[in-house]
Amino acid sequence: MNKNIVLIGFMGSGKSMVAQALSQRLKRECVATDHLIETREGQSIARIFEKKGQSYFRDLEHQVIEEISQRSEIVIDCGGGVVLNPENLKLLKTNGIVFYLQASLDVIYARIRNESHRPLLLVPDPLRALEQLYQQRLPLYNQADYTIDANDASIEGPIAEILKRI
Ligand code: S3P
Repeated sequence: MNKNIVLIGFMGSGKSMVAQALSQRLKRECVATDHLIETREGQSIARIFEKKGQSYFRDLEHQVIEEISQRSEIVIDCGGGVVLNPENLKLLKTNGIVFYLQASLDVIYARIRNESHRPLLLVPDPLRALEQLYQQRLPLYNQADYTIDANDASIEGPIAEILKRI
């Protein structure tokens, strides 16, 4: 199987942990879109949002997706908002199998409520912002090839599910 393994899903769904564990087990490189963007820009995602705005970040994200979609046999850990541009999912699917790590809003909120590096939640009512984003994105995440239950705190379930399908 030389297709890429692509992980999408909301912030806090466990994409990064699952991606790293998969890359170790399969001996494949793990490429995280956020990490690539931060390295290229020399600053954190939060700072890019703050200084240059979300649409600047989304353009960079799209460029990165265009590049890494050309590659094969890698694990791709996507930022939660990649699905906002329909082109991104199309590109990712050309050479990859896309897995949506699905966790409920309650689980997600419990995981990320005390984190301060998520720019989209730096608002007066983060739970409300989260609910809106969640509803808006659900149909987009559902365009993945497979949906994987990521509600449990352990990443073993999602890893086993993904390995079964590749
Ligand atoms: C975002 C999710 C973040 C990061 C940025 C925007 C989003 O990635 O790309 O803060 O729009 O959901 P994670 O899903 O890895 O937290």
